[in-house]
Amino acid sequence: MHAQSAVEGSDHSDLYDGLSAKPLSIPSKYFYDDLGSALFDEICDLPEYYLTRTELALLERTSAEIARITQPAEVLELGSGTARKTRTLLDAVVKECGEPSYVPVDISGFALETVAETLEANFPALEVEGVLCDYTESLAPVRPGPECLSLFLGSTIGNFVHAGGVGLLSSLRSRFDCPGWFLLGVDLVKPVEILEAAYNDTRGVTEQFNKNILNAVNRAVGGDFDPGDFDHLAFFNDEQSQIELHLVAKRPVDARLDDLDLEVSLDRGEAILTEISRKFTRDTAEGMLVESGFSPERWFPSTDDAFALALARAAGADVLDAG
Ligand code: AVI
Repeated sequence: MHAQSAVEGSDHSDLYDGLSAKPLSIPSKYFYDDLGSALFDEICDLPEYYLTRTELALLERTSAEIARITQPAEVLELGSGTARKTRTLLDAVVKECGEPSYVPVDISGFALETVAETLEANFPALEVEGVLCDYTESLAPVRPGPECLSLFLGSTIGNFVHAGGVGLLSSLRSRFDCPGWFLLGVDLVKPVEILEAAYNDTRGVTEQFNKNILNAVNRAVGGDFDPGDFDHLAFFNDEQSQIELHLVAKRPVDARLDDLDLEVSLDRGEAILTEISRKFTRDTAEGMLVESGFSPERWFPSTDDAFALALARAAGADVLDAG
């Protein structure tokens, strides 16, 4: 069954902008149609993709402490996906201070339906109130309640350029009416071989995920891209400290996107940028939090320093105004 996606309700102006300027790009949120969401779940289990299992192990080690520090009545999660990792934290919160309400916010209706079903089985008394929204466009439907712990895990913040990430986090911070907490998961800088292997898996799942974005775009705006015309390319851009995913034309390509009234032409070898995935240090991650109005309180690195959770305080709007 096809579940609703927040991308379907948009005017696709960001897609138009990305495909009408050179170098070409497609916003990475178009990855997450039903198949893309399922492929991403598969990526999370790949041996090369260390991010998910490392963050999960880190949450298993630190959740009790995070629950003790934050004592949340509500756990709100931006980009919850299927919330596989969140269960560990919810478990710890339930043990520490009772059943919180859980507010998953995601662009994919499929992911939200799965979250509700799986959490009901594990936490029968948990109140789950999913918000289907494109949080990259607007956080208007999101309002952290009193004593809220907001989560943005999985290093999804890495998929935003610096200004976009700060814009998103600042907008989240400004939505806190009362003081609360924010937990951010970030992937850390490490040897290039490890980074590049994570986005060039031997089973080709990331390649499939990357090419599927063209099917999602075709469906969204009446396009006729042929994914078979493109090669998957993923590499670490050292200067920008980011992995980049591209689709490189194997031959000259002419595509038409009916609903955007747009023709896109690529020469052989020309690329479409589909994703950046920024890699952080403690300084760059905490600097971004400060720039967004949060005050970093604790830094929890994984045992191998591959990944980290940054816990920050979000002063309520009233507190900030007073100060
Ligand atoms: C969702 N995001 C954090 C993933 C990442 O690693 O940047 C998306 C992804 N793209 C390819 N593999 C995984």
